[in-house]
Amino acid sequence: MHSAPTWDPQQYLRHSELRTRPFLDLLQRIPALPSRDRPARVADLGCGPGHVTALLADRWPDARITGFDISRDMLEQAERHHAGPTPGGGRLDFRYADIAHWTPDEPYDLIVSNAALQWVPGHPESFAAWLDGLTPGGILAFQVPGNFTSPSHALLGELCATPRWRDRLAGHGRRFVHILEPADYLDRLADLGCESDVWETTYLQLLPGEDPVLDWTKGTALRPVLTALADDPEATEEFLGQYRDLLRKAYPPAPHGTVFPFRRVFVVARKAAF
Ligand SMILES: C[S@@+](CC[C@H](N)C(=O)[O-])C[C@H]1O[C@@H](n2cnc3c(N)ncnc32)[C@H](O)[C@@H]1O
Repeated sequence: MHSAPTWDPQQYLRHSELRTRPFLDLLQRIPALPSRDRPARVADLGCGPGHVTALLADRWPDARITGFDISRDMLEQAERHHAGPTPGGGRLDFRYADIAHWTPDEPYDLIVSNAALQWVPGHPESFAAWLDGLTPGGILAFQVPGNFTSPSHALLGELCATPRWRDRLAGHGRRFVHILEPADYLDRLADLGCESDVWETTYLQLLPGEDPVLDWTKGTALRPVLTALADDPEATEEFLGQYRDLLRKAYPPAPHGTVFPFRRVFVVARKAAF
């Protein structure tokens, strides 16, 4: 059993523009919420530093929105910058929760999750309980990375499994094998009575600077490795050097930047209205 990765909000936010785009694309496909005579109630699972949670308040200005996360560092950042009343008369707050055990504590109109469920093994098993907690016609919407066979992840897994690292890092490259293919998400949610809109997109992200793919992964996929090596700065440097060399070959820099293709899977499921 690996220890939970520690998160670094500042590192994560370094690529916030590119990381936010898929959330905006998801948001666009979420239809009107069922709440008519009261402000919408919204949960954001794995809210991170809260900048994406705050975008929900732009779409539903008077909504009561709660972001849930397991990282105290992320929650602190979210609280400092985003908690409180919203300009449209709504409210944003943030709470500690492990998504793996979270169930709705009151009726929600929207349960949303952006780039977080890949950290939660078995998350499809929670769909039934989450749907139970939605109001009739309510929405479950999420976006997960679908790039776990891409070189950035495959090379990380291979490096962790080499004799130099396997004692300390074995298994770290295989953390996300429980992400379902889009058609499987569609099937699961259809079985639960939902009308679903499921799609995938590969963004050709053009990253500036030196070793930008390494910098990107430091905010996400590398967190478990950085956590496991946290007490050994020399080993961390050695590992990062080896991973960087592999990434340079897989994602060569070009005059216009480094192209980092990123596949993502989107799901917008509507619970039956009655
Ligand atoms: C890649 S970040 C995404 C943050 C935010 N949703 C966004 O789109 O910017 C993943 C977040 O999921 C959170 N997370 C991972 N596993 C979790 C769990 N089991 N329960 C709650 N949050 C979790 C992490 O702490 C982190 O903040």
